Amino acid sequence: MKKILYASFLLSITVSAQYTDINIIKEVKVKNKGVVVSAHPLASEAGAKILRQGGNAFDAVIATQLALAVVYPQAGNIGGGGFMVATTAEGKKIALDYRETAPSKASFDMYWDKEGNANVDLSQNGRLAVGVPGSISGMFETLKYAKLPFSKLIEPAIDLADKGFAITEQEAGLLNSHKADFLKNNKNKTVFVKDTDWKIGDLLIQKELAETLKRIQKSGEKEFYQGKTADLILAEMKLGNGIVQSQDLKNYKTKERKPLVFDYKGHQIVSMPFPSSGGVLLAQMLKMSAYEDLSKYQQNSTEAVQIMVEAERRAYADRAEYMGDPDFIQDKTAMLISDEYLKSRWKSYSPKLATPSKDVGNIINSNRKESTETTQVSILDKFGNAVSVTTTLNGLYGSKTVVSGAGFFLNNEMDDFSIKPGVPNMFGAVGGEANKIEPGKRMLSSMTPTLVLKDNKVKIVVGTPGGTTIPTSVFQAIVGVIDFKQNTNFSVNAPKFHHQWLPEIVTVEKNFPSATIKDLEKMGYKIDKRSQIGRTEMILIDDNKTVHAVADGRGDDSVGVE
Ligand code: GLY
Repeated sequence: MKKILYASFLLSITVSAQYTDINIIKEVKVKNKGVVVSAHPLASEAGAKILRQGGNAFDAVIATQLALAVVYPQAGNIGGGGFMVATTAEGKKIALDYRETAPSKASFDMYWDKEGNANVDLSQNGRLAVGVPGSISGMFETLKYAKLPFSKLIEPAIDLADKGFAITEQEAGLLNSHKADFLKNNKNKTVFVKDTDWKIGDLLIQKELAETLKRIQKSGEKEFYQGKTADLILAEMKLGNGIVQSQDLKNYKTKERKPLVFDYKGHQIVSMPFPSSGGVLLAQMLKMSAYEDLSKYQQNSTEAVQIMVEAERRAYADRAEYMGDPDFIQDKTAMLISDEYLKSRWKSYSPKLATPSKDVGNIINSNRKESTETTQVSILDKFGNAVSVTTTLNGLYGSKTVVSGAGFFLNNEMDDFSIKPGVPNMFGAVGGEANKIEPGKRMLSSMTPTLVLKDNKVKIVVGTPGGTTIPTSVFQAIVGVIDFKQNTNFSVNAPKFHHQWLPEIVTVEKNFPSATIKDLEKMGYKIDKRSQIGRTEMILIDDNKTVHAVADGRGDDSVGVE
């Protein structure tokens, strides 16, 4: 059923009409062809097919996102939101913000009980957790850079939803482990629940979703925000405690932001500005670690990891204090990434000693929960357009509520707000005033779709899922190539670590070097092991113009080739 092909050359893949043969391609090296890297082989193939039909990277990213909404329902979505960072062949840099917004009826204390205790169950599960979805708006906004009509780009997704596809072992396991959540958070029957357990190779057919996609194919963006789909979302809200209103859907707009651009060791980094914290955190971490020059050390050596962890600690303390939706708070990006500020921040760095988190930020409370979610699409076309999109429902399957009659999951993105100062969200991140809930506001994200340019040419297209671990994983992927001179595959698949100021723990993947762990413990770091961190999808163009595309080995992620 599932074949994993590791190859360093172009491979052809065959996907049968019934989508029952799934070939996973982990690495491709190719010249003069476009590549698509995503979390699912059928979604990567949907994007690659569009490239073969004459589309560019923008066409392909729309088709891939729509296909992910079908074949990767835990994070691919039309009921969530995302960010796109891109550059056109002519060098125009683009940042699209199609993050969800808080409904007009939302308030800062909407998840508090009478005693003022915040209830994270309500911000994470069911209809009250839902932010106004932005993904369909974002895809239509992307269309202005594309070549093909939307009606064509949505075809692969419709086909996959209509005919069904064979689920992978990972998908079967996830659907089984969430069965109770699906039953709890839905009044009506959904296709995601069966009487017996899901198993590898089972067909997942989504007729209601296919009909939704067909309506969008016929009537466009308006169908989602004002048509029958909007009506079905509103009806779903009324089945429980949902507060998304008709006006909220009608008023939703994607925002074109100014990409965050900064230099790192002769490279230009292009990343996502607020309301994602990703780009600013990445800039802070790269700039602070450059004060010690990582290239002097080995990747994952004690010295390198300590420097990076301390840069992460200071950056994430700033996340909690200063970062939020720039349309609601003063945008402090310029100050936060200035050398003057970062040098003063770095003064407390002490080699061979962990800096206490209380010394770099104002601690109110902390604890931690783990979750991985979100999904990344990295695309390069033969014309020179490069696109990095990270899109999300927030937690796995978002709110776990499926829109009755429309067949798609709604997000639980409201949990990315600071629902009460000091109360950690599902990623253990805390925040305060800057990221408090306000009607129409966009919740702070960690998504970090990023491009690295050298001499004005695209060198790296990168991004990953993983909640608050996203910026630190992108940080590691970039220094992996630039400082540690790793190849693309190693940069993506090397054991990773993560620190986020609070909780005061360094999380490492289970195969992280034990000698480094022991050294760090001696310096005062508390280490916690996690099975996996993130799923990095990375494309690197080398000096000979060979394109190296690598899909993360941690999941079913796969490369599609034009
Ligand atoms: N929902 C995860 C993020 O936006 O960072």
